[in-house]
Amino acid sequence: MKIFEKLWHGADYNYEQWLDSPDILAEDFRLMRLTHSNVMSVGIFAWAMLEPLEGQYTFDWLDQLMDSLAANGLSAILATPSAAPPAWLSQKYPETRRVSELGIRQPHRRRQNFCYASPIYREKIVALNTRLAERYQHHPALVLWHVSNEYGATQCHCELCYHGFQAWLQQRYGDLDSLNQAWWSTFWSHRYTDWSQIEPVDPSMHSLMLDWQRFISDQALDFFLAESAPLRQITPDIPITTNFMQPDVGLNYWHFAKHIDVACWDSYPRWHQSDDLQTAMRTAFYHDLHRSYKKGLPFLLMESTPSVTNWQGISRLKKPGMHKLSSLQAVAHGANSVQYFQWRQSRGGEEKFHGAVVSHLASENTRVFQDVQAVGRLLEKLTPLTATTVQASVAIIYDFENEWALNHAQIPRSLAKNYRETCQQHYSHFWQQGLAVDILNTEADFTGYRLVIAPMLYMLAPGLAERIEAYVTAGGTFVTTYLSGLVNESDLCFLKGYPPPLRRTLGLYSEELDTLADHQFGQIVPSAENPLQLHGVYEFYHYAELVHPEHAQVLATYDSEFYAGYPVLTANTHGSGQAYYIAARTESRFLADFYTHLTKHIGLENPLCTRLPDGLSIQLRSSVNQRFAFIMNFTDQTIPLEIGEGWQDAVTGLPSPSSIIVPPYDVLIVGQQR
Ligand code: GLA
Ligand code: ZN
Repeated sequence: MKIFEKLWHGADYNYEQWLDSPDILAEDFRLMRLTHSNVMSVGIFAWAMLEPLEGQYTFDWLDQLMDSLAANGLSAILATPSAAPPAWLSQKYPETRRVSELGIRQPHRRRQNFCYASPIYREKIVALNTRLAERYQHHPALVLWHVSNEYGATQCHCELCYHGFQAWLQQRYGDLDSLNQAWWSTFWSHRYTDWSQIEPVDPSMHSLMLDWQRFISDQALDFFLAESAPLRQITPDIPITTNFMQPDVGLNYWHFAKHIDVACWDSYPRWHQSDDLQTAMRTAFYHDLHRSYKKGLPFLLMESTPSVTNWQGISRLKKPGMHKLSSLQAVAHGANSVQYFQWRQSRGGEEKFHGAVVSHLASENTRVFQDVQAVGRLLEKLTPLTATTVQASVAIIYDFENEWALNHAQIPRSLAKNYRETCQQHYSHFWQQGLAVDILNTEADFTGYRLVIAPMLYMLAPGLAERIEAYVTAGGTFVTTYLSGLVNESDLCFLKGYPPPLRRTLGLYSEELDTLADHQFGQIVPSAENPLQLHGVYEFYHYAELVHPEHAQVLATYDSEFYAGYPVLTANTHGSGQAYYIAARTESRFLADFYTHLTKHIGLENPLCTRLPDGLSIQLRSSVNQRFAFIMNFTDQTIPLEIGEGWQDAVTGLPSPSSIIVPPYDVLIVGQQR
């Protein structure tokens, strides 16, 4: 794909806001050259400027922009403008506006505020997208479609959406008896006798709300497919993306991922407000997730702020070094771009105080501009990276539907269930130790991974337990924890414990769950002569499951409460593989020690050194004949590291010393032929 030939550097460029400043285009291209920019995302919120009145299209300014991009050697990521409808549309077609849970039609305001089901909205955007595709299909600047902007799962409770939902349910369940059974709706007398009675406004009906969430995600995807259809048809050779966000929006991005050509996301870490190492670890987790959507391909960092945001409550200036470190962190995890929101700071509107490459000072003599310039220069020197990818032997399952279901569930300790944080707690060790991780959903293929970790795998859709069993039988190593295997895809509890394939794989079953108050902790002790050579005393908190081993070997036990002596860590050999169970929420030190021994046991290590000092993270990108290591320091301290012989500085090409010093908030990139 042409889009992966170089590392991209660029920004959202909202030229349509500046049409009455005729000199701005020439000035912006001068500045873009200085920042080594090679791509701009354009037209994202430009519907009102492309179709100022119904059916009256004005492309002249976009023609001028596209031509100038091409003339200046830059590429265009061209957006479809569906994320923000023009006022005339909302006024003439009020049915395009969303309806709130209380049945109130929303006013025209803000953006991302329309009903995905509205036929007229679809008709209008398809007409515009068709014109965009026809007009720019052969344009030399066009390299990628940016469909809409940050689709969300914002709910619309209009009649059309309810009918859509009821039809979706009919498709899924066939008849009402099956639905009533799947939703256990006899509980509190919630049985439905007609499809039209089903309204997704009842948080006590977990299965209903879970299906509603699935439906909204499907509906957003359906809208995406409808508005991209003309692009696919008219420009079959131009790849398509849509910018994802952190998975808090409630869309199942895995389903979108099947229909896009490259994955991208908008990353806004909150640096310097709490522990930067934790922020870096969580950001890395999201980078890995976005890479995993299109496994084997690079992803794009579509947006990041060159300085601050204006919507996070608090956003601190990036300390010296942080801009480069944060940008290169994305590249280290497999991004082939560093792009910003936005190029030129808006003069008015909600985002006038959001950071931009060119601030209101309108000067290249700013700290931010120069930081951006330095990243641009660096990315140009790192072009060989485009031949490489991140290759992961470890997978962590972090599944959205599982998260949605767990979030709804009322369990004995619903406070701080922390599903995602727990996935990140497991991830943290691998992140720090330079062992690449793919972040998967439960539908993914596990073959090829040496280690698959599925914390809090509460919901097991049909076939999942069987696939886990097959993975382990064939020699895989699987780890799961407390709060796993409790419900099926409709949130109905399994009777008689786990489904048989999981029980066989784990070699145990679970009987009870104790939950602890925030201030309560208990102790864990490794069993004498456990094969992982764990020793010492560790703490558990929040959740403590009481499990009964059937075939599993006990590696550690509780040392507190009436269940002292019950297993906390078990290992079960099944076929040619092994399955581990961690029955309690443990301190991170326990996980770090467990995974240190486990990865050694199965022969996984990073190629730089066996144990990295705290504060650093190492990530690798490689191809058959070369590899690059990104050594990142997310602390304000200098950290020394031994990397051994045979590495070159990836920027200068000079041999790297085997003892290196990583300055505070900095990244060193070394490479080596294989
Ligand atoms: C999002 C949007 C952009 C802009 C930025 C500001 O990511 O996609 O349009 O609002 O946030 O941070
Ligand atoms: Zn609607």
